Amino acid sequence: MKKLETRKDIEQLVNSFYAKVIKDEKIASFFTDIAKVDWDKHLPKMYSFWESILFGQMTYKGNPMGAHFPINEIKAMEQEHFDQWLSLWTQTVEENFAGENADLAIYKAQNIAKLMAFKMELARRL
Ligand code: HEM
Repeated sequence: MKKLETRKDIEQLVNSFYAKVIKDEKIASFFTDIAKVDWDKHLPKMYSFWESILFGQMTYKGNPMGAHFPINEIKAMEQEHFDQWLSLWTQTVEENFAGENADLAIYKAQNIAKLMAFKMELARRL
């Protein structure tokens, strides 16, 4: 299996992931109906986000948590949605790549998703 080592690899990973996301019954609506994502803008942001995390190339400048609060206000982002997000992410990584960076991509996503789920839940209680 291929190692996850270049920006091109990340592009392939992110594109394959969102191809699954937009067909997914549990989470597609956040992207298609609620945020009405502009994919030409969102995808390059996500390439840079993962490039920053995995390769330490600080090409992403943004606030990954902040972007989710307005979405959470329209439709609650619950644990089951994060579980589904993570399941699709893990599947996509494992179908395409193996090795240290592939493991790191899964591990980092788990940590961020955990923190994000906590912050979204807290925001709904305030
Ligand atoms: C239930 C889980 C999730 C849903 C439904 C979701 C949905 C979304 C949506 C709709 C956007 C906005 C796109 C736009 O308007 O352009 C977004 C942005 C983003 N998401 Fe998520 N997300 C989820 C989990 C995650 C996780 C776990 C991560 C990180 C590992 C993540 C990272 C990002 C980043 C980096 C952005 C771009 C923020 C920016 O504008 O700079 N998301 N997400």
